[in-house]
Amino acid sequence: MLDYSFHKAVPVSALQALFRQTSWAAHRTASDVALLIANTPVQLGAWHAELLVGYARALTDGRSRALIDDVIVAEAHRGSGIGGEIMRHLLARLAGVEEVYLLADDRNAAYYSRFGFVQSTANCLCRRNS
Ligand SMILES: CC(C)(COP(=O)(O)OP(=O)(O)OC[C@H]1O[C@@H](n2cnc3c(N)ncnc32)[C@H](O)[C@@H]1OP(=O)(O)O)[C@@H](O)C(=O)NCCC(=O)NCCS
Repeated sequence: MLDYSFHKAVPVSALQALFRQTSWAAHRTASDVALLIANTPVQLGAWHAELLVGYARALTDGRSRALIDDVIVAEAHRGSGIGGEIMRHLLARLAGVEEVYLLADDRNAAYYSRFGFVQSTANCLCRRNS
């Protein structure tokens, strides 16, 4: 039985272990991850007892915009519905926000279409500093 929590503190080492299983966040150092945890207003952990098996976060003002990022399920636990539960909890939490954006590459677009996400035609630009 998994526990989905917005409140349980996420340890840096546990989140770093999940990030190492991704292509985009594997390089993040412990201090990067500590900063990210400290400054992200909405974070959801999926817990199997004390083991962090899934995670996602959202940057948001709580009303106008939210940006979902870093949706990750531990490799050994994929395909059993955890990602779906994470998205449902997160979207319920963000239900009062006008527009919810999500960072995802094209390969995951079909997955997120299950939750109502479409390719955005909004004027969304990005500048990379590194
Ligand atoms: C994408 C991810 C979060 C999904 O979590 P999950 O717990 O494995 O997914 P669920 O068990 O809720 O859903 C599995 C279903 O989604 C489908 N699915 C999984 N990844 C998919 C993808 N990239 N595109 C389309 N469908 C996908 C599976 O085929 C399965 O379909 P079914 O329900 O018809 O059997 C997880 O695979 C993951 O962490 N991947 C690596 C990190 C990543 O790419 N994150 C997204 C970055 S934005």
